Amino acid sequence: MKKTSFLFAALPAAVLFFGFTALAWEANYDESRVGTFDLPDPLVCADGTPVTTPEEWTQKRRGELWELFQNNMYGVMPPKQCAHLESELLAEKSVFGGKAVQRQVVLYLNAPEETPRMNLLIYLPANAQGPVPAILAPNFMGNQTVSEDPDIIVPEVPDATRTESGEPAGRGVKKSRWAVEKITDRGYALVTVYYEEIDPDYDDHRQNGVHPLLRAWEDKNNIPTESRAATITAWAWGLSRALDYLQTVPQIDPAKVTVMGHSRLGKTALWTAACDQRFAASISNDSGCGGAALTRREFGETIASMDRSLWWWFCPKYSTYVPDPNRLPFDQHELIALIAPRPVYIASAAEDRWADPKGEFLSALGADPVYRLLGTDGIAGVTEQPPLDTPVGGTIHYHIRTGKHDVTDYDWDQYLDFLDKYVRGK
Ligand code: GCU
Repeated sequence: MKKTSFLFAALPAAVLFFGFTALAWEANYDESRVGTFDLPDPLVCADGTPVTTPEEWTQKRRGELWELFQNNMYGVMPPKQCAHLESELLAEKSVFGGKAVQRQVVLYLNAPEETPRMNLLIYLPANAQGPVPAILAPNFMGNQTVSEDPDIIVPEVPDATRTESGEPAGRGVKKSRWAVEKITDRGYALVTVYYEEIDPDYDDHRQNGVHPLLRAWEDKNNIPTESRAATITAWAWGLSRALDYLQTVPQIDPAKVTVMGHSRLGKTALWTAACDQRFAASISNDSGCGGAALTRREFGETIASMDRSLWWWFCPKYSTYVPDPNRLPFDQHELIALIAPRPVYIASAAEDRWADPKGEFLSALGADPVYRLLGTDGIAGVTEQPPLDTPVGGTIHYHIRTGKHDVTDYDWDQYLDFLDKYVRGK
């Protein structure tokens, strides 16, 4: 369906629908109404057997949990073989007074076809002694929004929803979220890609973006419709293809690529690292419901509200849990546990109550037993959500920053300190 006709058809219906549901549903922001719930124990298998050794986790429980998340929430993750990858260098120049190199590379996912493709905007420290750690972080509105640089190629995505009045968003409009020079000064490569190049962010019944590539495999393997790759899985699959390429770049250390994302892309960053164990670490910035926040708390955004307005992010099976999230065979602390023993940073913002900062912290805490079983310091003995602007933890790190739903220089400062200690040094 063409986007314009989709919008015309969908807009009046959406106004009525969201107007109605806004009246009918109000988010809970009252801690006393959260109630009690039983969190599933990540260290107890579905058959009731306790997990007491790292081997039992790795050989049995981890795979079981990963399947539960795939079949019930995000959809089954298709393999690398769905892609035929080819890369082409489009541009390269020196930036920041010679301190860094900006490289633009297009990755064709179904070569020799031109689409789907991903335009990678890569910044590399110029004077590194050997391969550097990298941060792969998708962006919301196009690579050109990361910086005012007029040479940044504007990705063309006819079906994109993240535009300004139908046009690509302006150069540099999101630059406050991208501390590019700080990141490269600290010795890290930064790689970004426009997320809607991987899969446009609306429901078209899995027709556009990378879905046609995934579908051939899904059909061949009889993946049930209710568990097929939803949009978050499509985004995660695309980020893994970016990693396939980054692992061939001589300037980047292939074992030290961290995946980072904000908000819906924070949900994606956690799921990407859970599915692809080649990622060295994951950073979730304000990811909220369907990301780091515990589903069972139903504080702020809930799976019921996501099911009404953002259902295409999750597979159809997830909707069946809307009436009673307690029936879910997992909660989001176990998504974080799937990343263990690799470093993970969960960040919240105080004014971002929609994302349930406390639920994000409790999830980080809930993953701690798995991290400790696997021989790390986990959340390093922390038991309470820390005060504002006070990062805590160890291999699992957490902070709640002053301010709203956003990515700030404060966040990047903490992430870089964390990566220095837990990824770079290893
Ligand atoms: C909405 C949505 C969140 C999401 C956020 C974003 O607020 O409800 O789940 O994280 O958009 O991605 O910006």
